[in-house]
Amino acid sequence: MSRRFALWIAAPALLVLSITACRTTDTGSVRPGVNDDYRNANVAEWQARFESESREIYVERERIADAAGIREGLMVADIGAGTGFFTDLFARRVGPSGLVYAVDITPEFIAHIDAHARAEGLHNVRTVLCPADSVDLPDASIDVAFVCDTYHHFEFPARSLRSIHRALRPRGQLVVIDFDRVPGVSREWVMNHVRAGREQIIDEITAAGFELLSRQNDAPYLKENYLLRFRKIDEPGIASP
Ligand SMILES: C[S@@+](CC[C@H](N)C(=O)[O-])C[C@H]1O[C@@H](n2cnc3c(N)ncnc32)[C@H](O)[C@@H]1O
Repeated sequence: MSRRFALWIAAPALLVLSITACRTTDTGSVRPGVNDDYRNANVAEWQARFESESREIYVERERIADAAGIREGLMVADIGAGTGFFTDLFARRVGPSGLVYAVDITPEFIAHIDAHARAEGLHNVRTVLCPADSVDLPDASIDVAFVCDTYHHFEFPARSLRSIHRALRPRGQLVVIDFDRVPGVSREWVMNHVRAGREQIIDEITAAGFELLSRQNDAPYLKENYLLRFRKIDEPGIASP
């Protein structure tokens, strides 16, 4: 086989291989297995972990709701709602003129939140069992997307963020609470469990069409977590209110 002929055969094969590699990087999970613990979730066990006085997120939930600006009449999505204590709190705050979507990939959590909302007469709660790469909400349906202790569970952050961007109304806000991951400071568990530090998360979110409203932690009473607020940058053609 001549050299030129070998090149003629090899070049397209290399092109196909590199396109496949790029696609895999673009579409693959950034953290395979991060949600394995939620398979066949035992809700009572997770409730004991999530709704515990030893968890600062739970202890400070009212102040967090204040910092996230949750008030009467708003349409809010609690994304990665877990056992739903924020959904419950937000539903009471937004009242009958507002709405709270509880969004999660774990069917047991969604069934639990559904049953709880019915038992409590919270008629303004809608549950959404979503896939891992989209929040599956209607376009321009929410004022606030609230993502607590869940961003580092997104396996496909770029795609989930794209769906959040679509779901937010013009100038809607994305509120993210997550563990601060600081080498030499954070607990070993945080270092191993959380894939990225605050600056990388900010870069990922701003690259998805959001502006950071303030670099400071908007919940300084949290010791291990930060709260950041972003605003959707409206796409051209969508008028701001
Ligand atoms: C650590 S828990 C936090 C639950 C709740 N926000 C809290 O702070 O108690 C993470 C939650 O995110 C959910 N989750 C993981 N990936 C998700 C995704 N791509 N979209 C929506 N929910 C997701 C999990 O099922 C789980 O309920």
